[in-house]
Amino acid sequence: MPFDLPRFGWTPLLLLVIACSAPAATPDPPPTEPKGWADEIALPQVQDLNPDPHIVEVNLEARLANVEFIPGKPTEVWTYNGGVPGPLLRGRVGDRLIVHFKNSLPDATSIHWHGLRIPNDMDGVPDEPYPAVAPGQTFDYSFVLPDAGTYWYHPHVASALQTGNGMFGPLIVDDPQEPPGLGDEAVLVLSDMAVDENGKLAAPDAGAEFGTLFGREGNLLLVNGKVLPTLHVRPGMRQRWRVINAAKTRYFQIKLADNQFTRIGSDGGFIESPQTLDSLLLTPAQRADVTLEPVPPASATQLTLRWVAYDRGFGTAFNRPDEDVLHLDFTGNVVKADPLPALHRDIPAADASNARAIDISLTESRTADGTVVMGINGVPSWDAEPIMTPMGERQVWTVKNTFEFDHPFHLHGFFFQVLDVNGVAPTVREWRDTVNVPVDGTVRFVVNFNERPGMWMFHCHILDHADAGMMGMVHLH
Ligand code: C2O
Ligand code: CU
Repeated sequence: MPFDLPRFGWTPLLLLVIACSAPAATPDPPPTEPKGWADEIALPQVQDLNPDPHIVEVNLEARLANVEFIPGKPTEVWTYNGGVPGPLLRGRVGDRLIVHFKNSLPDATSIHWHGLRIPNDMDGVPDEPYPAVAPGQTFDYSFVLPDAGTYWYHPHVASALQTGNGMFGPLIVDDPQEPPGLGDEAVLVLSDMAVDENGKLAAPDAGAEFGTLFGREGNLLLVNGKVLPTLHVRPGMRQRWRVINAAKTRYFQIKLADNQFTRIGSDGGFIESPQTLDSLLLTPAQRADVTLEPVPPASATQLTLRWVAYDRGFGTAFNRPDEDVLHLDFTGNVVKADPLPALHRDIPAADASNARAIDISLTESRTADGTVVMGINGVPSWDAEPIMTPMGERQVWTVKNTFEFDHPFHLHGFFFQVLDVNGVAPTVREWRDTVNVPVDGTVRFVVNFNERPGMWMFHCHILDHADAGMMGMVHLH
């Protein structure tokens, strides 16, 4: 069977149910979340300049701006259109997105559309083929949104500094055929920011070599740019969260005490079938779509979403307390949620036969003066030769971590299917663009380079690691 592109296959039963739900007697109106339930985490909006319903055309400007994370102590951050995160961009599968981009920063920058299968010249990697956008210059991005799902955008120049200083935003691609009943939606862009008590951003090289090795985590945990905001919700009522980890280093393992998440989607849209989880783990750059029907503990009216340390290697979890991320305040009586619609997506097993083996080792070395250099197979990005790949080649990548920290490994422009992590196959099939490679561990995945020639990057999405050299390139020709 050929390696199929992501496709949907809702069960016929579900379609039948939708088709047959003719109106009978007028039922009670369904309960809704309280008015303005998610206002505290409202995302910045941007005006669609194009009347064509199949074109989303917007202006984005990269610029410095003052944003208050700590009340009364503005922080000068790097932004898209003046806010953190940047505006929510949203279209449907098949729509064209046009972004008139202006760089008003003091440095060159670019926009990378993380996870989107778009033409190589729109991918935002400097000099592949277009140079980075210089200060004062403009660039027009234009491409068709190919796959439904939860994505994001960020710069690909000095990514640790620029993304870490506030440049990231959500991009949602809607599937018009999605079944109803997944609940009211909230898009949660998770990030962290290193800000001192006066509101000043930490230096991008804080912690020197150890900062690079560990990766730099911020002290303020943010949901859509807000410190510990509140959602106002009805107990038991279903919500659907689209969660994006936009932090440059921090892994987000999140938990709601005594409540579970149902994971329905990941990097590349819906997963094969829903999965019930006590906590949700997202490495930097990963996404998850989850549903939940939160209820507070007995006699309480509030629940807190907490960050729980995930051990990603050397000293990253030791003695670290949980941190509060988001409050859920409950009002009204408990709502009995309808059963979750039967979600099933046919994801055929990726064909790994006759695939070329690509061996990737994630490595670390030091220069004579002690500077940390990270690389792929011992070679930092600036010295690396691309992996020459003929069009149509199927590959099995074996990514080995020789390091004392986990690495979230990301490939641009193509989804892949994980075969195994330390020899263990995943329990549910899904399309990923970012996968965690554990300490001393090995991940194998299949990828089919069957379209869109060009230079496609891969790298660790701990952006301090990427900038230290842990990046490489596939030359698809
Ligand atoms: Cu979010 Cu090079 O990627
Ligand atoms: Cu890394």
